[in-house]
Amino acid sequence: MARLHFGNVISRDQTTRNSPAFVPSWITILFTISVPLIIALGYLLRVGYLHRSKINALRKQGIPMPKEWSWFTGHLLTLQKYVDQIPPDANVNLAMKDLAREYAETEVFLMDFWPVYPPLLMVYSPEAAIQVSTKYNLPKTDMHLRFIKPITGGPNVISMSDNEWKTWRSLFNPGFSTAVMMDNVPHIVDSVQVYCEILKEKAGKANHAFRDADLDYQRSENVLATALGYITRWYSFWDPRILMHPLRPFIQKYYGHVMNKYIRNELDHQFLEIKQEKLSNENSIHSKRAKSVITLALEACVAENQDKNITAMTKLDDDFARYATYQIRLFLFAGNDTTSKTLSLYPPAATMRSGRAGIAVTDRHGNTYPMDHVDATTLHSAVHNNPRVWPRPDKFLPERFLVEPDHELYPNPAAYRPFEQGLRNRIGQTLVYNEMRILMIMTARVIDIKPAYDEWDALKEKEVGLFARVVRKFAGEPIKTVHGDRAYQTKKVGTHPANGYPCHVDIVKQ
Ligand code: HEM
Repeated sequence: MARLHFGNVISRDQTTRNSPAFVPSWITILFTISVPLIIALGYLLRVGYLHRSKINALRKQGIPMPKEWSWFTGHLLTLQKYVDQIPPDANVNLAMKDLAREYAETEVFLMDFWPVYPPLLMVYSPEAAIQVSTKYNLPKTDMHLRFIKPITGGPNVISMSDNEWKTWRSLFNPGFSTAVMMDNVPHIVDSVQVYCEILKEKAGKANHAFRDADLDYQRSENVLATALGYITRWYSFWDPRILMHPLRPFIQKYYGHVMNKYIRNELDHQFLEIKQEKLSNENSIHSKRAKSVITLALEACVAENQDKNITAMTKLDDDFARYATYQIRLFLFAGNDTTSKTLSLYPPAATMRSGRAGIAVTDRHGNTYPMDHVDATTLHSAVHNNPRVWPRPDKFLPERFLVEPDHELYPNPAAYRPFEQGLRNRIGQTLVYNEMRILMIMTARVIDIKPAYDEWDALKEKEVGLFARVVRKFAGEPIKTVHGDRAYQTKKVGTHPANGYPCHVDIVKQ
């Protein structure tokens, strides 16, 4: 039976092969692969054509944009000539700021970065920025989640829009009230005290140039801070060397998992404590607990489940715990990586908002920029450096914030927006100001900090190899400053100063 069956198969095969209708298998494979490819390519070309046609129409309407626009690459190559003028590790926003200066007349212009980014209205006029953030309060773009997901693990209060955002924002708002921030002051003082001690230990040593990385996490290792450190080290908004690195997704996923596990344990632990308190009739989590973001998230969970008996719940709802974890990861990142910057000269963040049919931004001359097909970003570095509204914008003049409104230095409130403005402004503003003030008071009176870039560069120069020296002969000396500033902002998340700000520390008063 088996032989007969085998024989039958062979003869059927042969019949097929000899038949004129037989198509060789490689042609079938080629056909199977190429048809979907051609369809996909056709689809992409159509989407690309439709997109570029819309931008071309805006171009014809006279919307200001760099003239190098092309049907194939849009403005993708335009920024390169500005990027070439800054050090390789400098933040791309600094190149964008230079480009923006060419649009001083309108302070609004369009960049077509599609398909890498959506096409963006670049706004650095305070009047137009207010329309984006406050008048229309445009929703966040999908890019927010794409950018921040490696750090937070999922949707969070920065990336969310509309009702979802409202729910989470109102949940965390009480945790950042002025009263809670005042309660927090002793913790800040304790931590700054540790920072000062470390500075004093570094002072007066033979080689006392040090970098901010040395101070990370203060005295001891912390699982969350270490994991977050790895995730942010492998993070970039635009650097292809990082974005296309094959290890990046794995490393970020692994450390994301470490953070999730740690936070989930903490949530479960605190949930059990709340349950215990309820059981022992200490119905007072609101008054007794410090309002950490974890406590706030749990309070919301308890409030949401008022109909259920919390003491009967064996564990936290998994979906709730997952979303709360994304938010907590966001707060850890925001609190860890952005504080203590000279915010007006070096704004570390910005905003990107989604366009909407029927909405148009108007520049100071009354020209309108329809947002039916384009999103908008407020270029904080350029707004803060706008010479029309900031006299001597490059100068460090802290008195700008002390003078009366009739003084020429008095800042236009809409032009100072390191924390953004409107309903989507930064939640931790009071916390940041408290931290900065306490840090300044406790350090500036007793410790003298001076930049040590000359020494740093001399040290690094000794390490340059023969090959690099030969390359320099042809390519020229590397650029080390941005408009004369050696402590320029780098592309490290949080825009840390170049080389971690090597400096000398001296104790001026015990
Ligand atoms: C110098 C320090 C900081 C700066 C310059 C800063 C800047 C900003 C900016 C510009 C935004 C708007 C982002 C956007 O529209 O996409 C923002 C949003 C936000 N920031 Fe910060 N931030 C800082 C520190 C903090 C801290 C310490 C926290 C909390 C611990 C925090 C939590 C948030 C949150 C939750 C949002 C989202 C607000 C919302 O959309 O409702 N930030 N921040």
